[in-house]
Amino acid sequence: MSKSPPLPKFGSPLPAAQPSDEAIDLLWRRRSTPADFLNGPGPDGDTLGAILTIAARAPDHRRVVPFRFVLFEGEARGQFGDILAAEFEKDNPDASASRVECERSRFLRAPIVVAVISSPNSEHKTPVWEQSLTAGAVCQNMLIAASAFGFAAQWISEWYAYHEGVLAQLGLTPEEKIAGYIYIGAAKEDPKERARPELDNIVTRYP
Ligand SMILES: Cc1cc2nc3c(=O)[nH]c(=O)nc-3n(C[C@H](O)[C@H](O)[C@H](O)COP(=O)(O)O)c2cc1C
Repeated sequence: MSKSPPLPKFGSPLPAAQPSDEAIDLLWRRRSTPADFLNGPGPDGDTLGAILTIAARAPDHRRVVPFRFVLFEGEARGQFGDILAAEFEKDNPDASASRVECERSRFLRAPIVVAVISSPNSEHKTPVWEQSLTAGAVCQNMLIAASAFGFAAQWISEWYAYHEGVLAQLGLTPEEKIAGYIYIGAAKEDPKERARPELDNIVTRYP
């Protein structure tokens, strides 16, 4: 994989369109790899930086930047797992030891997990709904960038995206939400084509 090109200078002209058979092929055949089928290695520091840079350059009405990232790498994945296991056990005192261990090892499924946090500014003129959409676009940009750099990934929420105790320990404010945990690594096996929406079911023409 070639090194990322330098970022364009602020205000420099950019192409309005960039015809690319490779980009079309990537988008045409893009698939997530379930976290259970991920493995190491993950991207190195420079590549992760490039993936996050691309992700962060998502469409964003009035440039609010209504999102932030929390990275989980190395031992931090297990430390977060201890929190997941403890919170899960509190809510499910009868859970089997193996189930609790499964919760503890959630983040060990991939070498890197990026929590994309939707962090809207409700005082801002841009509606919170639009700010939430930006966080979703960030997640999708991240999946595409990871794939283009040669890594498999999955966008996951699971219970710990919604659990108040977990979110408090992650330092989320009451306004913030998890847009997704993006697991990034190498695929143990390639995914398969899945059903696509029928365009006839979702496209109408006005009027
Ligand atoms: C906000 C969001 C949360 C998701 N959470 C989960 C999840 O918790 N577990 C899961 O298996 N898939 C989850 N998915 C779906 C997968 O990431 C993936 O999109 C789906 O399996 C379809 O595969 P594809 O991305 O290759 O089309 C989520 C997707 C989105 C957009």
